Amino acid sequence: MDKVRVAMVGCGGICNFHLSHLTQFEDVVFAGFMDIRPEKAREKAAAAGAGKVYEDYLKMLDDARPDALYICVPPDQHGSIEFEAIRRGIPFLVEKPMALGMELAHSIRDAAGKAGIVTAVGFQDRYLDIIEKTRELLEGRVVGLIDGAWLGGIPGPYWWPTYATSGGQIVEQNIHLFDMLRYLIGEPAKVYCAGGRGIVRREGYDLHDYSSAVITFRSGVVATLFTGCYLDRNVPGKNGLHFRCVDADIRYTLRQSVEIDTGSMVQIFRKQADQGVAEDRAFIDAVKTGDQSLVRSPYADACKSLALTLACNESIATGKEISLI
Ligand SMILES: NC(=O)c1ccc[n+]([C@@H]2O[C@H](COP(=O)([O-])OP(=O)(O)OC[C@H]3O[C@@H](n4cnc5c(N)ncnc54)[C@H](O)[C@@H]3O)[C@@H](O)[C@H]2O)c1
Repeated sequence: MDKVRVAMVGCGGICNFHLSHLTQFEDVVFAGFMDIRPEKAREKAAAAGAGKVYEDYLKMLDDARPDALYICVPPDQHGSIEFEAIRRGIPFLVEKPMALGMELAHSIRDAAGKAGIVTAVGFQDRYLDIIEKTRELLEGRVVGLIDGAWLGGIPGPYWWPTYATSGGQIVEQNIHLFDMLRYLIGEPAKVYCAGGRGIVRREGYDLHDYSSAVITFRSGVVATLFTGCYLDRNVPGKNGLHFRCVDADIRYTLRQSVEIDTGSMVQIFRKQADQGVAEDRAFIDAVKTGDQSLVRSPYADACKSLALTLACNESIATGKEISLI
């Protein structure tokens, strides 16, 4: 296929992100936009300079016949969109978190696997040059402990402040760092997570304001990850992961840089390339060639990061350590 016909369902904030990359690609054309708020779909079609606006995603799939579908709806809106795409053999990129329960996520995973379509999940950090550098710096080093944090305020989307609609901050937001731990360190064996409330006072909000998760990996590495949305500000430059190696400290600052400190020398590597462009390019190339291996976060792999974050919620709720084996 020379041109990939892309359609989008859910035309809010993250749709802008993907659109800003896709409009740079000469081999992408826009087939359709759909949102339950039609003005959002109209806005995106205007920004793309092409693409029909639909009020029904099924009609869009049948009428626009896209080669690829971007699914950018809130976390509680998944299921039938994916199954209808799979039924029609349409490859899709779905935003994280791809579901709020593993039963649904696994049934989408299995159906997509059976259909043999290309899938991708929006773990954009897997395409960061500084994550590649972190991987390189960790190579051959012995890590014992890792600590990390994603703290900030409450993001704007209307669906964010409740567990029923977002899954909470660990599942909706810090899932990126949990996924980075899996990407860089390997698979987890168990997790214990404690959470607290009482700082954020806001009508309709039912999330934990903060939590601390202790993850034991199958390799024996222990990581502690903080998550919090009680700050009155965002703190770029303060979030990320800190790997305590035998012979060095490696500090990944979220989407900005990675630094290695061996005691005798410090080297800082700053982000040079746009990971969002790389993420969308990889998905479009995978659709064109049918080569799933171009995608760094296929649906089946992303399910394991989702399971880890949902296990944190379960641990907070039950007070128990959750096994992931
Ligand atoms: N990968 C990332 O870095 C990243 C960043 C931000 C958001 N996200 C994820 O993207 C998803 C969307 O987040 P957002 O910030 O764009 O939210 P948003 O609220 O800005 O946009 C979501 C859009 O979906 C529409 N919508 C809701 N239900 C729908 C349905 N059933 N069918 C069609 N449209 C529907 C809403 O009207 C809204 O316009 C979330 O899962 C979020 O976690 C990922």
